[in-house]
Amino acid sequence: MAIAQLSSSALYSHPSLARLWKKVHLTCSPFCRRPAVRRLYTQPATVLRSLLRHAPYSFIALGCAEGLKESLLLRKLPKPTLLLTADTCLSMAKIAARKLPARAKIARRIDLTSPSSISRILTTPISPSKSKAPSPARLITLFGVLPNLDPFSLLRRLAKNMGPNDLLLFSANLAPGENGRRGALRVLPQYDNPLTHKWLQGVALRTRPRLSPGSIHFGVYPDTTQSSLSRIEARWVVENKPTHTLFSSRRPTLSQVESWIQTSGLTRIHQWIEPKGEEGVWLTSRKA
Ligand SMILES: C[S@@+](CC[C@H](N)C(=O)[O-])C[C@H]1O[C@@H](n2cnc3c(N)ncnc32)[C@H](O)[C@@H]1O
Repeated sequence: MAIAQLSSSALYSHPSLARLWKKVHLTCSPFCRRPAVRRLYTQPATVLRSLLRHAPYSFIALGCAEGLKESLLLRKLPKPTLLLTADTCLSMAKIAARKLPARAKIARRIDLTSPSSISRILTTPISPSKSKAPSPARLITLFGVLPNLDPFSLLRRLAKNMGPNDLLLFSANLAPGENGRRGALRVLPQYDNPLTHKWLQGVALRTRPRLSPGSIHFGVYPDTTQSSLSRIEARWVVENKPTHTLFSSRRPTLSQVESWIQTSGLTRIHQWIEPKGEEGVWLTSRKA
């Protein structure tokens, strides 16, 4: 029987699940445990400052949760004229909007798997302006989201909705080395821990129709849309048979991220990779 895949938004669909995820993130994530990973979110500031040239700009934080990574970046950038925070979990997007600096702020719910939801956020003018002056540049961030969603179609949809002055800064969790499966197996222990199990047990309890009694098993599998892409999955197993994938995290190699950029209509401006090769941040613009 086929294994059912839970939507990524189901993992954060209730404030109690968002709180459990936050605990996992603050306790187990390489971002919180390793300064070199945190530096990935301040390093782009130098290049960004020179590209934005002190002109007014808008900052759009997609899948921002409470905006922890964006706040590191914004400490090193001029204050944006307008901030739009958008997440499937509106309560987290509101917290991010409160925390991050900007002259004007908006928080919205978004479904990054829905083309219409993305274009509603990215093509609707977010500040009513009567002037004919060119619209200010937009810096769009997408941190920690690509592992959870189909990366190629998401990047392609974002590229389609970007203007010539827009910049997209996204992060990806990598499979270190050249062999995706071997790299993903190396980072697998980062996921298989008691706090992550507690969060995913909470997800399993909230799933409808109800799941049969079972347990959570982590492993590395090929992605369903790109078999050469390795994916860490937490599967719900009932009597030795997996019935659902509760959680998945795609772990591309560096060259796979490069090919996503090329084929989705984006151009790479710069990339920053942390020393262990487990996470990176890419600055891109729409292909001319
Ligand atoms: C792994 S967390 C990363 C959060 C934060 N950006 C970070 O890097 O720490 C994934 C985020 O994406 C959001 N998310 C998941 N699925 C989504 C969807 N379909 N549309 C919009 N946001 C989604 C979650 O609510 C969560 O905030």
